[in-house]
Amino acid sequence: MALPQVKIGVIGGSGLYQMPALTGAVAQHIPTPFGDPSDALVVGELAGVPVAFLARHGRHHQLLPTELPARANIYALKTLGVEYLISVSAVGSLRSEVKPLDLVVVDQFIDRTRNRISTFFGAGIVAHITFENPVCPALAQVLIDAINTLNLPDVTVHRQGTYVCMEGPAFSTKAESELYRSWGATVIGMTNLPEAKLAREAEIAYATLALATDYDCWHPDHASVSVEMVVANLRKNVTNAQAVIQQAVTQIAQQPPPSKAHRALKNAIMTPLDHVP
Ligand code: ADE
Repeated sequence: MALPQVKIGVIGGSGLYQMPALTGAVAQHIPTPFGDPSDALVVGELAGVPVAFLARHGRHHQLLPTELPARANIYALKTLGVEYLISVSAVGSLRSEVKPLDLVVVDQFIDRTRNRISTFFGAGIVAHITFENPVCPALAQVLIDAINTLNLPDVTVHRQGTYVCMEGPAFSTKAESELYRSWGATVIGMTNLPEAKLAREAEIAYATLALATDYDCWHPDHASVSVEMVVANLRKNVTNAQAVIQQAVTQIAQQPPPSKAHRALKNAIMTPLDHVP
């Protein structure tokens, strides 16, 4: 049977394993040349807008950040026709002004991964995408507008921030945490950068809604990050995240934001087409 076509995708990270508001949800198992995605993609409607949802770590949280099939995930979303991808992710805060439970719409990344394949190219085809702005500014603005429209009580939103993407699975040492702070980074997580690169190569607009859950391990007045702390704060924040997604999806459907990401491969491929294997 032909796959449904959906323009908007959502990848849910730790704590966001499903979207209860998704109506008429159908699980789509989409094999790809890069293996199976983290889980079935759940296609349904959010406030009447078709959306594809994917639990990044699998719905039972069984995949380490290093084990994530990021290429299969983005390939499967592209197969469904996704043009806008919202990533929801738990992060540690590297700045005192970003408090646990704050929302950060990040605009930059620093790559500290070591063991991920973050490109669809190779095997005879060479391409170099422009990645100066790894997040689609227009889609990030949709997230900011959605948060402002909802006017959520007691929620602080940071309109920009640099996300350090570390390998994990162990959290950082104090020296690493201080190093990232000295670089001016805002938050730290383990998953978003490979996705952002692959989404750009797939000409999908990508933006991250980061949910701060802890102060990593640098803050003298706060306990160091633990899974217990992350999960407890995510539980408090997941309803807000779902409300923001629903509002953002409505806005995208009403007025799809123009995105340079949709033309990312123009002038990026070096191998002449008659030499592509
Ligand atoms: N996810 C949530 N908190 C984190 C932290 N402190 N470091 C890396 N990933 C995280």
